[in-house]
Amino acid sequence: MSAPNKSYDPVEVEALKPEEIERMRDEALAAFAAADSLDALQEAKVAHTGGTSPLSLANREIGALPPHAKAEAGKRVGMARGAVSKAFAARQAELEAERDARVLVEEAVDVTLPYDRTPAGARHPLTTLSERIEDVFVAMGYEVAEGPEVEAEWFNFDALNIGPDHPARGMQDTFFVQGPKGRETESNVVLRTHTSPVQIRSMLDREPPVYVICPGRVYRSDELDATHTPVFMQVELLAVDEGLTMSDLKGTLDHMVQALFGEGMTTRLRPNFFPFTEPSAEMDMVCYVCRGESVGNPDRPCRTCSSEGWIELGGCGMVNPKVLTAAGIDPEKYSGFAFGFGIERMLMFRHNVEDMRDMVEGDVRFTRPFGMEI
Ligand code: DAH
Repeated sequence: MSAPNKSYDPVEVEALKPEEIERMRDEALAAFAAADSLDALQEAKVAHTGGTSPLSLANREIGALPPHAKAEAGKRVGMARGAVSKAFAARQAELEAERDARVLVEEAVDVTLPYDRTPAGARHPLTTLSERIEDVFVAMGYEVAEGPEVEAEWFNFDALNIGPDHPARGMQDTFFVQGPKGRETESNVVLRTHTSPVQIRSMLDREPPVYVICPGRVYRSDELDATHTPVFMQVELLAVDEGLTMSDLKGTLDHMVQALFGEGMTTRLRPNFFPFTEPSAEMDMVCYVCRGESVGNPDRPCRTCSSEGWIELGGCGMVNPKVLTAAGIDPEKYSGFAFGFGIERMLMFRHNVEDMRDMVEGDVRFTRPFGMEI
């Protein structure tokens, strides 16, 4: 520790002379004013107010002065330091404002510029798949036929040999359309439960031979869940001509699955019952993922067909003569075959879609990956 300077000589303490202190202060103010960036200002601050700056060193000298001189020197140095720190704060505020104004200009976003990443959107995969199926048949000479979604019960049921007591007419399956006030239950109109009524309409509209493919939306009073939806799509096929047999049906089905799923695909028919076909069958196609190789082969399980080797597609059969008659076609002269299946199910196993709700919710994140297929 240095001993107090008893023999004080103001001339010796150069650093505390008023003009020296003023010079130090003015140099600091000039340096701050000259700083043209916040970094430069920071450097000037260290140089003029830091521990080794002239003003700090002068401040330290005060302790060596005799008591009567201390107060005055202290005041002088204190005022100089105060002025310096005020000047620093003022310059800092100025430079910060300049920087903020510059950033606002440099980083401005022009919200009126055209947005060039508008997603192109995509057709719904159910539409795409339905059109592919149509194309397969149009290429074979079939016509695309359509019918109304709000359908007369006669077309949806009676003409298809589904009598009044058939369970499909029960409330659990069918949406009935309300009749006029006072006769609410008498409309005889339903939301069609399948595309089969288009068979009847097509036969009534045309002279045989009739070759039609009928895609469309159908309705059943089911809850929406992972495997059911009250609105779904079916494709119906009808061929009426002289001499058509079950082998024509089988060949047509095989051609369809080959066109849609690739070479070597086949179908199989299992006996079943539908009122509008006789005989009737359930049609399966070979699993297009494992091609049957997962059957009895635990090392190669197949998720698509649950290792059964076959995937159920829908129903088919030879058109019931009663149906031909209802549509004004002579069953002695003509025979026909028909099939129908749901497109959602085909989309599910064709593209590993696990939840039917994804297909109906209209979220573009679902449809976009199917994107560019036309
Ligand atoms: N219409 C039937 C249904 O929705 C499916 C069907 C089965 C259609 C057999 C047909 C057929 O044309 O021959 O369940």
